[in-house]
Amino acid sequence: MVKILVAGGAGYIGSHVVKAILKAGHQAVVYDDLSSGQRINLFPQAEFIQGDILDYAALKEAMSRNIDAVVHLAGKKAVGESMLVPEKYAVNNITGALNIINAMAECGVKHIVFSSSAAVYGMPEYLPVDEKHPLNPINYYGFTKLEFERNLEWYSRLKDFSYMALRYFNAVGYDAEGDIRGKELNPQNLLPIIIEAATGKRECLNVFGNDYETRDGTCVRDYVHVTDLAKAHVMALEKLMDGAKSEVINLGTNTGTTVKEVIQAAEKVIGKKLNVKYVERRPGDPAELVASYDKAKKVLGWEPDYKNIEDIVRTTWNMENLG
Ligand code: UD1
Repeated sequence: MVKILVAGGAGYIGSHVVKAILKAGHQAVVYDDLSSGQRINLFPQAEFIQGDILDYAALKEAMSRNIDAVVHLAGKKAVGESMLVPEKYAVNNITGALNIINAMAECGVKHIVFSSSAAVYGMPEYLPVDEKHPLNPINYYGFTKLEFERNLEWYSRLKDFSYMALRYFNAVGYDAEGDIRGKELNPQNLLPIIIEAATGKRECLNVFGNDYETRDGTCVRDYVHVTDLAKAHVMALEKLMDGAKSEVINLGTNTGTTVKEVIQAAEKVIGKKLNVKYVERRPGDPAELVASYDKAKKVLGWEPDYKNIEDIVRTTWNMENLG
């Protein structure tokens, strides 16, 4: 049994990671400032420290509790906001993340799994995108993820660390067993916005562009279920604890789904037509983004369990109805 500090463990992906860590028989310590994470997402079996990654003293105190490894998911993730308020992203996603590895170095913690993103690639030059694809982020959010990956690479050499940077494609869905109760607040992504349109919280769903060169004119993305992502974190942690070397790994499904297909799946699951409006393209949206997960399979032995968009949508819709 190992003891894992999960920074951002009360958040959307973090809470699923904590569940997977506990399920695998390990101990979890959640470190979260509850700025976007929620108390309702905490598991009673996991210790909780309410703290900010910008508070170095608190972080060091947390890290000195016999921690074996860290999962860092305490980041800001609104792409649009990162272009308007880059300083918020610089401070949280770069300075905060550096605090984590500095505290690890001071406390002798040697392994970290980092929540990175497909946003490090920018506009895809070929598909599916593998880890050798050029790195040209086109938004500041993606830049912060890449910047920290590079720090991990340096620290792994200079401070004798090992790390796994997991580059998520489009994270979606909720725990199918209903153990995660905190619905994401102020969601910015397609599927939660669809749900808001279906429940009347929004008047309609704006689809950003239907004139892309794709099979139905709308953008193609690789939607990967959050429970599959969580499983990969545990596999990455266990590999690192076993002495595996540092790696950067894509987490996606090698399956592209268009915005229209997500809408159709949602309409089928929910059982009603959505009020859809086609509007201008959103600047910076690639037409198509799909992952190769060959490396995840090879290095971690990981494969997504969720492969069908309807099943994925159902887990989000069920969450809506948990009350
Ligand atoms: C982006 C980032 C991803 C990041 C994620 C976190 C890139 C390339 N991708 O994903 O790395 O982890 O945000 O938030 O930077 N859409 C609509 N209407 C809406 C909302 C979305 O049509 O109201 C469409 C978008 O144009 C896109 C798809 O739905 O084609 C998915 O959008 P979204 O959920 O915002 O995620 P990405 O922008 O793909």
